[in-house]
Amino acid sequence: MHRNPMKVARGGVVTGWGTALPDKIVTNEDLSVSMDTSDAWIRERTGIRQRHLGGTTSGLAIEAGRVALDRAGRRPDEIDAVILATTTPDQIVPGTSAAVQDGLGIPAGAFDVNAACSGFVYALTVAHGMLAIGAERLLVIGSETLSRITDWDDRSVAVLVGDGAGAVVLEAVDGPGQLLSWKLGADGSMGHLLQCDHGGYLSMDGKEIFRKAVRVVVESSAQAIAEAGLTVDDIDLMIPHQANLRIIQAAGQRLGIPEEKSVVVIDRYGNTSSASIPLAMADALETGRLRPGNHVLLTGFGGGMTWASAVLHWGG
Ligand code: ACO
Repeated sequence: MHRNPMKVARGGVVTGWGTALPDKIVTNEDLSVSMDTSDAWIRERTGIRQRHLGGTTSGLAIEAGRVALDRAGRRPDEIDAVILATTTPDQIVPGTSAAVQDGLGIPAGAFDVNAACSGFVYALTVAHGMLAIGAERLLVIGSETLSRITDWDDRSVAVLVGDGAGAVVLEAVDGPGQLLSWKLGADGSMGHLLQCDHGGYLSMDGKEIFRKAVRVVVESSAQAIAEAGLTVDDIDLMIPHQANLRIIQAAGQRLGIPEEKSVVVIDRYGNTSSASIPLAMADALETGRLRPGNHVLLTGFGGGMTWASAVLHWGG
């Protein structure tokens, strides 16, 4: 289906961002003490050097959300809803977003979005829909504590995961705003590739996810770029989900986006699921790589399988 988001009467602009990472840093060397792995294997196969572990999904989300509100110069009572992307809620009921609403003192609605590692781009897309029907300001967060659903005796998953959160304040503007296009996808027949039962641990078919991930990231990114009315050469920065450096490199190569245009934080944070894109976005903003006028491709994939790509015209 072809959409033309430029027709929206009200769009959104990111006016503030924030991150939170647990204090505890665990290096590959630390992991190789307790399991049969090595720094060389983890770095070569994934690009990860270290990860932050600890905290709760709500606690990290509150911390990141508070920084984002401060940076946007907004009070909690100016926010119309909290949208929390997470695949590791503190509890099944209530939704973790309610604890975030309470922790930040935001007198408004709150709901969780679970689209696994694609969650932040899903949440950002939903948020733009809410702005189009009258919301003024939204707090959109990706927060995860994958360490809590990880079997620390299973090296195939344990070396990959990290905990953290990233948040943005999204404000309504008249006219199209930053979001030029979005492409969401899901294929539940691939659910078995990455799963975690109630009370259980994450399990995955890493090789198969790798293959599918590259394909869906490339296809949905190409569609989002085309729907934005752009070509790949117009993309100034790619902010991909951080699951494996080799996936980021393979997708970039196939799309024709040079490596220096991708934002990589997996070396420091590991795979933080729906927090990875807002963490990478914050890194690009803080290092001056993401600047007004840039065309930015966000692209993620994860359990479900789900995938999501969006093109933003940064500014405002
Ligand atoms: N340390 C050392 N050796 C290991 C480890 C480890 N942590 N894990 C596996 N190995 C061994 C395997 O046993 C295997 O040994 P063998 O050849 O003797 O059988 C060998 O290393 C190669 O294993 P592969 O699984 O073939 O390694 P591969 O190159 O496929 O890399 C990886 C594995 C990193 C998991 C990769 O497949 C991948 O990144 N896939 C995508 C994962 C992903 O994106 N998941 C989605 C999100 S994950 C999440 O949300 C937690």
